[in-house]
Amino acid sequence: MKPLKFYLITDTHYFRYSLGAYGEEYEEFMDGEQKCFAETQAINEAAFDYLAGADEADIVLIAGDLSFNGEKESNKAFSALLHDFKEKSGKRVYVVTAGHDFNDNPFCFDENGRGKPEGTKFTELYDLYKDFGYTDAIAFNEKHLSYVAELSEDVRLLVICNDIDGQKHITYDDEFLGWIEAQAKQAQADGKMMIAMEHYPVLPGQPILALIGDARQAEAQKLIDTLADNGVHLVFTGHMHNQSINVTETAKGNKFYDVCTGSAIGCPAYMRLVTVEDENTVDIKSIPIPDFEWDKKGMTGEEYLKAQFDRMIRTLIYRMEHDPEKFMRKVSIKPTPALKKIFPVIGRKLSKMTVGGFGRLLFIRVDPSIKKDLFVDFAVDMARSVFEGNQPYVEGTPGGDALLKLFKKIRPFVKTLKGSQGETLDFYETMKHTVGNYGIDDYNAVLKLS
Ligand SMILES: [Fe+2]
Ligand SMILES: [Fe+2]
Repeated sequence: MKPLKFYLITDTHYFRYSLGAYGEEYEEFMDGEQKCFAETQAINEAAFDYLAGADEADIVLIAGDLSFNGEKESNKAFSALLHDFKEKSGKRVYVVTAGHDFNDNPFCFDENGRGKPEGTKFTELYDLYKDFGYTDAIAFNEKHLSYVAELSEDVRLLVICNDIDGQKHITYDDEFLGWIEAQAKQAQADGKMMIAMEHYPVLPGQPILALIGDARQAEAQKLIDTLADNGVHLVFTGHMHNQSINVTETAKGNKFYDVCTGSAIGCPAYMRLVTVEDENTVDIKSIPIPDFEWDKKGMTGEEYLKAQFDRMIRTLIYRMEHDPEKFMRKVSIKPTPALKKIFPVIGRKLSKMTVGGFGRLLFIRVDPSIKKDLFVDFAVDMARSVFEGNQPYVEGTPGGDALLKLFKKIRPFVKTLKGSQGETLDFYETMKHTVGNYGIDDYNAVLKLS
């Protein structure tokens, strides 16, 4: 077969700037956000300018969460941007819509606080985005806004969506799984290779994310079996705004890869360049989202997005000390009078503590090179790296060794963890592989599909 190349970008979360994203309440909202908001129009314009001039491929896939939160003006403007992009570049665009693209309750901010712009109905999405995959499709599922498109003579793209009218992020039912299976079988019968795209990760991006229900497709195993046992061994996803590449095997011994890409408008902001070399070999490369026009306070685009990510984590730690009730609400802990007294004490101690001091408290020997580092800085970097992928806290590094000693201390008390889909996970292994990447490179990798 002829090799095929395409770009993939996801979670563009385009927000029409003129709706309003400023003011005191806006800043308070942004204290708890990983992604940018006011800046998203500028970032998307820069990203699609780059893609228009990028000459390695003439196909762009977008894996969902196209608009910030389903504002009608944002969807209209993003659709116009994509039409313009198509015309200017001659490239083809394939999208999947997701939970953030239709909403009765979107919001914006100005000097008077929170405003309520008009939302988008699910039934309006087709008209907004029909020129980006749907009208070229060789099969179309209207209820699910799902389709099959021919990327080349040899490769088909299965776009699947389980955010439907009135419901978001639901389990794949037998009827929809039947449709998916029929498309996969048809591709096999026609001698075509098929790859898939859906918004929600099918495999947990990092092991710890298996604990969070929202971090992946509900009852994912059903979908994995349906796809992989019918010849579809690769899915491209987004949603969690993290960079990861994971693989599993079905009971029948078929491999299944999930390539999850970071959001265009939040750290880690990357897109992918994918080369399908042959039926068995797919090469994945990562490209940083280009710099964008904005008052970035002297920072590069990448530094600016990183600063927003860190702001979210630092605010959380700050609130533990100064606003424990808000802190508890954010991390879903029920505030009690006792906890309201305890968290400020913990927060105050942690904010001043060094990594060495933290180690001493738990009788853990810490390498001298990181002893004087502030514990909060260490924690922020570690939390961010779980989303950035290729986590550096592996065995044999000062930070990795300190963390592994910590997990060993906890292990006698917490042997296993319960995954959101009923799995039992080994505590130590889950933590070890969450803070350090020992598996596939999350940025650049060659995947062997069988
Ligand atoms: Fe998203
Ligand atoms: Fe999402």
